[in-house]
Amino acid sequence: MTKTAYLTIDGTTYELPLIHGVENDAAVDISGLREVSGHITYDPGFGNTGSCESAITFVSGEKGQLRYRGYPIEQLAEKSTFIETAMLLIFGELPTREERNKFRDMLSEQELLHEGLKHHFDGFPSKGHPMAILSAVINSLGCYHPDLLEIENDEEFVKAASKIISKVRTIAAFSYRKSLGMPFMYPDPKLSYCRNFLHMMFSIPYKAFEPTDEAVKALSQFLILHADHEQNCSCSTVRMVGSSQANLFASVSAGICALWGRLHGGANAAVIEMLRGIRDGEYSVKDVVEKVKRKEMLLMGFGHRIYKGFDPRAKILKESAHKLLVNTGHDDELLDIALELSETALADEYFIERRLYPNVDFYSGLILRALGIPLNMFPVMFAIGRMPGWIAHWWEDRQNPELRLHRPRQVYVGPTERDYVPLDER
Ligand code: SDX
Repeated sequence: MTKTAYLTIDGTTYELPLIHGVENDAAVDISGLREVSGHITYDPGFGNTGSCESAITFVSGEKGQLRYRGYPIEQLAEKSTFIETAMLLIFGELPTREERNKFRDMLSEQELLHEGLKHHFDGFPSKGHPMAILSAVINSLGCYHPDLLEIENDEEFVKAASKIISKVRTIAAFSYRKSLGMPFMYPDPKLSYCRNFLHMMFSIPYKAFEPTDEAVKALSQFLILHADHEQNCSCSTVRMVGSSQANLFASVSAGICALWGRLHGGANAAVIEMLRGIRDGEYSVKDVVEKVKRKEMLLMGFGHRIYKGFDPRAKILKESAHKLLVNTGHDDELLDIALELSETALADEYFIERRLYPNVDFYSGLILRALGIPLNMFPVMFAIGRMPGWIAHWWEDRQNPELRLHRPRQVYVGPTERDYVPLDER
């Protein structure tokens, strides 16, 4: 296995060590490059830049593979639960029954919000976007748990992690209830993670909402599929913020903000808006494909920085959406439109040559619609799923004794030195 790369600049050759991962991924270590050569590397969007070594998630874009701690996503989606998957990502191993029950009890103990936090919701307008509320209230948790702002040991970390994973559901559901002017439904410790969330979203006083087992399974699988995806935009944001020694609440709050963007976690809602436009006759499938080819719009839910073939999550979500709609008697015409749009794009040279395929967001919104989740909550659902992944990456960094503050360099292209000009002379 080659151990060294050579870079020649102005006749001088520099030796750069090669780093190899366990899946034959390899990297040129440039951590000493500027010191020896006076040069930095340049990689807008970081498509060719590794920020860290990580043992949490492996993605192969060429082979369409996704594994959490070595376990293929297909097996976890079929056989695991969201809490078990969260523990796998955070602690590195599938839990024993005793470990799982202990963590599940911790989540039940942490599911309520401090009554003082509830008043924050009164300050938000009813139309306030739930992602803004989620990032604000998650960050505010640090005000109610100052003892967890500085995490000194594993026990404090597990306490903070369980608080966030449990309360993120409560905050999300409360923001939905607030938007409708409905009373908050408190969590019920007798219910499972997903069933409890649906209860807080859709029960009304004295009339408990009873989701079907299919709906609960579909939600659990949705959250498993969103739980982590290595160094994506929001995960890198969490690691960036955490590298300054910012606390866990602030770090994942920053991750929520990064996820909100349409190119990232906001795409699931944008896909549904696009499909609804076709359903309502604003434009046809053919119109969309042609507008995309004229670069007047992006095909939302398509394309990926890593996957240059099918996103394995999209395959599972497509089947799950179809099964849920059939089982719940929902006949969502948007699924038929999505299938037609996908088939049309996948057969078109424009998409083929750019290797554009459906990603995790193309079908996921159809499942959320079938569960009765409103459109503006779609990125919130992505955030609930991704929370264990963010927490796992933050903790992986914190346990790294060689962790350095993340501080990229730049190539300066602004004005060269010039003297101040007094106001009257400008
Ligand atoms: C997620 O990173 C992750 O892991 C993210 C994620 C996770 O789990 O965390 O997987 C979740 O964010 C999935 C992506 C959701 N976003 C969308 O669906 C929005 C639509 N997708 C595009 O914005 C785009 O595909 C990105 C942002 C996802 C990836 O963009 P890249 O890697 O920067 O792609 P690129 O600009 O290099 O594209 C290459 C070509 C370009 O055309 P040319 O300049 O060569 O002519 O493909 C085109 C792009 O214009 N292209 C698209 C397109 N995506 C890329 N053209 C139309 N529609 C698209 N969706």
